[in-house]
Amino acid sequence: MNRPELRQVGIRDVAFGAGVKVVEPCNLYGCTIGDGCFIGPFNEIQKGVVIGARTRVQSHSFICELVTVGEDCFIGHGVMFINDTFASGGPARGRKELWCETRIGNRVSIGSNATIMPVQIVDDVVIGAGAVVTKDITVAGVYAGSPARRLRM
Ligand SMILES: CC(C)(COP(=O)(O)OP(=O)(O)OC[C@H]1O[C@@H](n2cnc3c(N)ncnc32)[C@H](O)[C@@H]1OP(=O)(O)O)[C@@H](O)C(=O)NCCC(=O)NCCS
Repeated sequence: MNRPELRQVGIRDVAFGAGVKVVEPCNLYGCTIGDGCFIGPFNEIQKGVVIGARTRVQSHSFICELVTVGEDCFIGHGVMFINDTFASGGPARGRKELWCETRIGNRVSIGSNATIMPVQIVDDVVIGAGAVVTKDITVAGVYAGSPARRLRM
C-alpha cells in the first residue's frame, strides 16, 4: 500500500488581535484576525486574508487569498469564497495574476452555504443561505438566490 505525502497546516503565522477565540481544528495561515473575533471549527483561512474586529466565522468555511472581511460580520457555516473564476477556461493552476479579490464591508451577514464570487459588498448587507453572489452589491439590503438578487432593503 502506498503512503501519501502528508502535510500539516494547523495554525501558523497568524496575526491575532486581542481576545480572539478559535475552535480547533482549523487551518489558519498567514492571515490577520482582528480583536474579539470568533473562528469556529473546520474553517480554512488563507494567507493575506484580513478579518475585521468582532467578526464571527462559524464553521466549515473557506476564505481564500485576496479576501478582506470587515468588522462585526457574520460568516455562516460552509461559506465558500472564490478567487479563481476559471476566467481562462479552467483553473488558474497557480497563476495568481488571474485571481480576483473580494471585499466585504462591515456588518455583513452571510448565510450558510453561500458562495461568494470575487465581488465587493457594501456595509449592512444580509446574504441568504445558499446564495451565489456573482456581482458587486452596492446597496445595503437582503439578498438571496442564485444569482443573488435583492429581496428587500
Ligand atoms: C435571506 C433571509 C435573511 C431572508 O429572510 P426573510 O427576510 O425573513 O425572508 P422570508 O423568509 O420572508 O422570504 C422572502 C422570500 O424570499 C425567499 N427566500 C428566503 N430565503 C431565501 C434563500 N436563502 N434563498 C432563496 N430564496 C429565499 C422566500 O422563499 C420568500 O419567497 P416568496 O416571497 O416567493 O415566498 C433568510 O431566509 C436566510 O436565508 N437567512 C440565512 C440564515 C443562515 O444561514 N444562518 C446561518 C446561521 S445558522
